[in-house]
Amino acid sequence: MTKKITIAIDGFSSTGKSTIAKQLAKELSYIYVDTGAMYRAVTLYAMENNFVSETFLHTEKLISKLPTITLSFHFNKDLGFAEMYLNGKNVERAIRTIEVSNLVSKIAAISAVRKKLVAEQQEMGKNKGIVMDGRDIGTVVFPDAELKIFMTASAETRAQRRFQELVERGDQVSFEAVLHNVKERDHLDSTRSDSPLVKAKDAIAIDNSKIDKDEQFSQILSLVNDKLS
Ligand code: DC
Repeated sequence: MTKKITIAIDGFSSTGKSTIAKQLAKELSYIYVDTGAMYRAVTLYAMENNFVSETFLHTEKLISKLPTITLSFHFNKDLGFAEMYLNGKNVERAIRTIEVSNLVSKIAAISAVRKKLVAEQQEMGKNKGIVMDGRDIGTVVFPDAELKIFMTASAETRAQRRFQELVERGDQVSFEAVLHNVKERDHLDSTRSDSPLVKAKDAIAIDNSKIDKDEQFSQILSLVNDKLS
């Protein structure tokens, strides 16, 4: 049987983690898991139930409902990746709005939320052959992952990419609002007390501000092949 490994891809928001993770999963026929989508889905749930807004956060109410929240991924053949479902409903589009982006760091800072999602992520990856992207994959979820990548790029480059994506799908949003959100999330995600975004000691840092997607893919694929040989 061919050797299977665990690939952890962490980094700041909009560094292209999911692009590279999807490319690798396709190339290697591995499972791809976007853990940010799981935090976003819990945030959407909290928004729909009035547990969170810009001005309040009802942590205990959300925690009491956590056992009733079911998250699942279903592969969409046409898109070529798995979409996020919240309690049986496809929320792939609803979780990508700027409103969810503005609140997700508050929800991701709640330890009970992290505990639930980390346990589910570890279960998904128990047989290896997985590419998982997020903030704490190499540090908390899979500290023993064979390959850990830490992606970085300047805040402006990342905001430009995110802005482009939102405009292409028809969202009305300004570049300044996106840049503000990127910087705010960098700050909140790196300074929270539970599992802050930090580079694992054994992660390989890749700054993709100046390299294109193909170059980045071949660079990372050769790191994978080193681990597989
Ligand atoms: O990858 P993303 O931008 O879709 O993630 C959304 C938010 O979820 C991000 O701002 C921080 C949080 N997150 C996290 O705390 N831990 C993860 N493993 C993944 C995401």
